[in-house]
Amino acid sequence: MAQVSLKNVCKIFPGNVSAVNNVNMGIENKEFMVLVGPSGCGKSTTLRMIAGLEEISSGDIFIGNKRVNDVPAKDRDIAMVFQNYALYPHMTVFENMSFGLRLRHIPKQEIIQRVGEAADILGIKRLLNRKPRELSGGERQRVAVGRAIVRKPMVFLFDEPLSNLDAKMRVQMRTEIHKLHIRLQTTIIYVTHDQVEAMTMGDRIAVMKDGVLNQLEDPIDVYDHPKNKFVASFIGSPPMNIMQGRIIKKEGRLYFDEGKIQVKLVEDMYKKMGNYLGNEVFFGIRSEDIYDKLFVSDAPPENIVKVNCEVFEPMGSEVYLYLNTGRHTFIARVGAHDRPKVNQEMEVVFDMSKVHFFDKNTEETII
Ligand SMILES: Nc1ncnc2c1ncn2[C@@H]1O[C@H](COP(=O)(O)OP(=O)(O)OP(=O)(O)O)[C@@H](O)[C@H]1O
Ligand SMILES: [Mg+2]
Repeated sequence: MAQVSLKNVCKIFPGNVSAVNNVNMGIENKEFMVLVGPSGCGKSTTLRMIAGLEEISSGDIFIGNKRVNDVPAKDRDIAMVFQNYALYPHMTVFENMSFGLRLRHIPKQEIIQRVGEAADILGIKRLLNRKPRELSGGERQRVAVGRAIVRKPMVFLFDEPLSNLDAKMRVQMRTEIHKLHIRLQTTIIYVTHDQVEAMTMGDRIAVMKDGVLNQLEDPIDVYDHPKNKFVASFIGSPPMNIMQGRIIKKEGRLYFDEGKIQVKLVEDMYKKMGNYLGNEVFFGIRSEDIYDKLFVSDAPPENIVKVNCEVFEPMGSEVYLYLNTGRHTFIARVGAHDRPKVNQEMEVVFDMSKVHFFDKNTEETII
């Protein structure tokens, strides 16, 4: 069993740099866990502490049921794939993949078998006699993964393994690693700052900011119910639109007043949002929850707003509209054939049953 758990784990670097702050996290056996967050939030440091490459300042790490704080990296039964995977240039693919096994004095026959199996899984059998310089970026990446697979570890750690690849190859390798997880049935902890990678690969994702774990849930829960304004705007592409404004009351109804536009809240939200009457809040709406009024027949008049369309970007399957209220710019995703006139007023409809509100001071989610 290879569950991994972190209990109150902190890392303070010399100079009092707090890189990881009291992180609690349980990764289940065979789970694909993704650590995601902006640059410098402590992802690599967390991974390196799990691998045993970085000392823990305080707290405990368990692999299986064993506390590993004082277990050296080589005895943790973990294999790590780094961003800069640095293959040995003078060795062939076979020699690169078998290097760790040879150091461990594994019998030759078994090495040949394990490298063969790994090469088969990764589709690189025909490359075994080549040198790294004779490989494409994606093939080199596969060899680096192969080097980890042959060790048959209990846990794989990946630190941004795809960031050196071009966009197309990244998408391809993303699927490959996903398939690999299904095939190998091992625990994987995968670090990325790319929220699309996180959403698409993780059984669960752990969103970090400034060394603090903000939310740990399955990707759709994080997308639909972000815990705070940071998670809301970090997960999702394009990011959630956030506007600042005030909750007001008109004729017994609650509205969000942005300054230029006003939209009526759905009644389910009255109880919670009533507490914020007269106060400033952050309002959040995802781009797919905004529609061009031209294509909606029964929009409630209170949810229709007049905005200026500054730019539109046809993406093929959909169009992104960059809209301006006069105070905030925001993005709507509309149908592929929508072609609004640029720099003219247009009407859009907000699906108010899908919106979010965040406390102005704490930035925690209200709804
Ligand atoms: N050896 C070190 N000494 C001092 N500070 C460090 C050291 N290593 C990392 N840090 C700091 O700790 C913080 C977390 O770094 P870490 O490498 O874990 O970030 P990250 O989330 O992996 O970022 P990235 O996405 O850029 O790789 C950063 O502020 C970094 O400057
Ligand atoms: Mg890093």
